[in-house]
Amino acid sequence: MRIIGIESSCDETAVAVYDSERGLLAHRLHSQIAMHQAYGGVVPELASRDHVRRLLPLLRGALADAESGRETIDGVAYTAGPGLIGALLVGAGFARSLAYAWDRPAIGVHHLEGHLLAPLLEDDAPGFPFLALLVSGGHTQLVDVAALGRYRVLGETLDDAAGEAFDKTAKMLGLPYPGGAALAQLAEQGRDGIFHFPRPMLDRPGLNFSFSGLKTAALVALRGRVLDDQARADVARGFQDAVVDTLAEKARRALAVTGHRRLVVAGGVGANRKLRERLSGIAADNGARLYFPRPEFCTDNGAMIALAGCLRLAACAAPERGRLALGARSSWPLENVGI
Ligand code: KG4
Ligand code: ZN
Repeated sequence: MRIIGIESSCDETAVAVYDSERGLLAHRLHSQIAMHQAYGGVVPELASRDHVRRLLPLLRGALADAESGRETIDGVAYTAGPGLIGALLVGAGFARSLAYAWDRPAIGVHHLEGHLLAPLLEDDAPGFPFLALLVSGGHTQLVDVAALGRYRVLGETLDDAAGEAFDKTAKMLGLPYPGGAALAQLAEQGRDGIFHFPRPMLDRPGLNFSFSGLKTAALVALRGRVLDDQARADVARGFQDAVVDTLAEKARRALAVTGHRRLVVAGGVGANRKLRERLSGIAADNGARLYFPRPEFCTDNGAMIALAGCLRLAACAAPERGRLALGARSSWPLENVGI
């Protein structure tokens, strides 16, 4: 079974071709970051218009890379939500038109389902069930994954997402948007313990997160100071240590509560090296193993959407495949995706 995957929920336009026998055949991506950088964040209308421009050339390129003609394609998967509604509508309209023209099923995929299944793109893929820590620019969730489409959210952020906190703090440090990866790089030169930031919600039971206070603590630490390069690196280090400690401790608690032997980390912040190191230690201490996608599949991409679409199509009996086509929706609780 061979599926096209289309991602357009935010500021990346991406198209991939995934084959259930041969794995990922091709993936192409255009990042809009340079376009949005002048505004310090994503401008939704510009994002939608750019998706319109990019989708067709990316599709042609991905099909050529995969050496796949239309007759080889069994379905067209696309991100149906959550995300920026205009951006989603462009991808959904494009994907559903293509599916209609080629007389193939259209498969709407939940963006976060794509992220949490992304480690299945790797040779060393986790089986079900597993615990997933989803850490992206828009979401921070601990999810109990029983099987495809059977997700229980154990905890989530009450305010900012981890990636959002990284981006806002990076901005305060004068780093360009989105600053998560640049902040992590700056933190490499930072010294331990010069700036100590709070570890939000660790003093309370439960598996929820809160990152807005941490961002404010970084603002207070920076206010009124003239910071040299070393001091900026020290702030970055203090901030990253606080986020990593918080995510790791909640992941440890969730492993203990669920008894899972597999821990998956996915989403853009999942590319963070310090976070991966810490989580792999925690997994080992709890008799579990850590799985993660390669860095380019941590951030938004079409490969994870193609893979999720392929699994969904395979799990759906032929007469019912029409119900896989979903309208775009800006908000969509992960627990409601079903199968
Ligand atoms: O998953 P993603 O591409 O987009 C959403 O679906 O939100 O995640 C993007 C987020 C951004 O906030 C970015 O700053 C952050 O992931 N990010 C990182 C790193 N690489 C990307 N944060 C911390 N460390 C990194 N190495
Ligand atoms: Zn994402």
